[in-house]
Amino acid sequence: MISTLLSRLSRGTDGAPAPRLAYGADYNPEQWPREVWEEDVRLMREAGVNIVSVGIFSWARVQPAADVWDFGWLDDVMDLLHANGVGVDLATATASPPPWLTTAHPEILPVTDRGETLWPGARQHWRPTSPVFREHALRLVRELAARYAGHPALVAWHVSNELGCHNVYDYSDDAARAFRDWLRGRYATLDALNHAWGTAFWSQRYSDWEQILPPRLAASHPNPTQQLDFKRFSSDALKDHLRAEREILRELTPDIPVTTNFMVMPGIKGMNYADWAAEVDFVANDHYVVPGPRDRDELSFSANLTSGIAGGRPWFLMEHSTSAVNWQPVNLAKEPGELARDSLTHVAHGADAVCFFQWRQSAAGAEKYHSAMVPHTGADSDLFRAVTALGDTLRTLAPVAGSEREPAEVGILFDWESWWASEQDSHPTSLLDYHREALDWYSALLSLGIRADVVPTGADLGRHRVVIAPVLHLVTAELAKELTRYTEQGGHLVTTYFSGVVDENDHVWLGGYPGALRDLLGIRIEEFGPLPDGRTVEVEGVGSGALWTDRITVTAPGTEVLAHYGTGAQAGRPAVTRRATGGGSAAYVSTRLGADGLAALLPRLLEPAGVGSDLPAEVRGRVEATVRRGPGGRFLFLVNRTDETVAVPGLTGQVLTGGTGDEGAVVLAPRGVAVLRTTTG
Ligand code: GLA
Ligand code: GLA
Repeated sequence: MISTLLSRLSRGTDGAPAPRLAYGADYNPEQWPREVWEEDVRLMREAGVNIVSVGIFSWARVQPAADVWDFGWLDDVMDLLHANGVGVDLATATASPPPWLTTAHPEILPVTDRGETLWPGARQHWRPTSPVFREHALRLVRELAARYAGHPALVAWHVSNELGCHNVYDYSDDAARAFRDWLRGRYATLDALNHAWGTAFWSQRYSDWEQILPPRLAASHPNPTQQLDFKRFSSDALKDHLRAEREILRELTPDIPVTTNFMVMPGIKGMNYADWAAEVDFVANDHYVVPGPRDRDELSFSANLTSGIAGGRPWFLMEHSTSAVNWQPVNLAKEPGELARDSLTHVAHGADAVCFFQWRQSAAGAEKYHSAMVPHTGADSDLFRAVTALGDTLRTLAPVAGSEREPAEVGILFDWESWWASEQDSHPTSLLDYHREALDWYSALLSLGIRADVVPTGADLGRHRVVIAPVLHLVTAELAKELTRYTEQGGHLVTTYFSGVVDENDHVWLGGYPGALRDLLGIRIEEFGPLPDGRTVEVEGVGSGALWTDRITVTAPGTEVLAHYGTGAQAGRPAVTRRATGGGSAAYVSTRLGADGLAALLPRLLEPAGVGSDLPAEVRGRVEATVRRGPGGRFLFLVNRTDETVAVPGLTGQVLTGGTGDEGAVVLAPRGVAVLRTTTG
């Protein structure tokens, strides 16, 4: 699907049949007078833009009243873009309902767990389960699809916008009704629900479906399985909305691929994108850097996970920022070189499109201080020059388009259900951070120069010699079997504290922790030993552990202790263990070692699998390497993680972008990226 889309984009420019990488932005011409549109398309050509997302927040403009439609301006925009060789990823415009709709139907407004209404005035003020909202949204989708079916500018559909960005959890009466239906589908009988939710506890037994509510503000900790099911339900409710819009689009424009922009980025956890991916024709993601000491590791991690969600196939970077955003406490501008490095890191992880929010920086509205491709200053600016330079770079990377990621020997398993379940309340610690633990492992691997793929549960583990599953808290009987099979067939599994503890109902696997993984790991834990904030313990020969410890007893003969606790309540006892299983092994790390401690431990964990870095020793940690492979060849991406020039010796291939130095070394400018074609297609 993506390659058909990309080849459509070369139409009207050089006419070449080969796909190109897509380059562009959200384009909001409704915020500007028509004179500006002419300048927009001229500058788009100058920057090498070939795709824009149009109409995302235009509902109030295209449908100014219940039975009034105004498409004239949008017709002109579509025609103008087409005449200038720019394809359109057309939004269904349903993200922000217009004032006439919320005035007539306030019952579409979301309600918080405290019963407060989220009023209009911003965006996304709609209940994912409101039948009234659904009816109006689908009517709009039908009108749009019927009008633009066959328009030559139309290359893709963009359903809504960042589904769930502000409205994933709605506790309204509509949500209560839909939640009950969802629960009926999952459990069929009230007995099954009562069992799953453990309602014998605290006198919570339900005798009628109508008694069941979303987990609204309660006197104490709401039922944990109710909370977990509400998370599953809320993700499914938005997925259902996505499907409903998509079905209309497929009916009216069967040849146009449908996507929606995911938010695999810091702080967003409500939508199970691994589960959504099959619903779109190609995966699209938005990513914003949240500045911090490991922000670029996080960017790489998110891009990598997006690729994992896309099954290693190419995906679209639908939004990121050219420089500052407007929604952090302090909004930092990007340093020179960061714009290109951020964009190309996404391409390194499989993005076939580099798009920004947004084309032209708004003069009014909540996002007027958010950067764009054309800043307030105008085209005579360093920023627009950087944008144009990136357009040139993307043109030289055209052969990369359509290539997939070459599997790495190490896989990091990322699991939404464990993320949700491990961070619920009334646990041994409230300080556990699932995403941070996964990122720690990723950073450690980056610092050792070892390539790793971040993959969702359900991906084929057999592609990786080593699978690292941090805090794999929720383990079904089936998943336990799959992991056992993986290690018996020669795979090396590494997991951590608080893994294997509960099943799909959030019920504890009895008989000692780590429950479902106890036999596989060859250990038994009677009691958890979480650490107070700021307290650390020594792990001999590795570093220091924080957050958690376990009192481990080794139970299987083939289990060796790789490191012991040196201090604290578990001093002298095992901290890291490994059991040999047939051809493979299963290792357990019982504390939070952080990226530095993990970097010290990893060589020992990877040794039985024979996995190491394929980068020259002198650049490990300073350069991130990824590989894409496809009809155009095999491409090695080298991303400079430092602010200094780095020369990478000993590589052979054709340098598509980046410099060359003495004896053919590939030279990376500070924050620079090089791409090498190591074999041709
Ligand atoms: C999101 C939205 C955009 C815009 C940007 C700002 O990604 O989709 O409409 O609000 O954030 O960063
Ligand atoms: C804000 C923005 C959103 C999105 C998130 C990312 O809420 O408004 O569009 O970008 O941040 O965290």
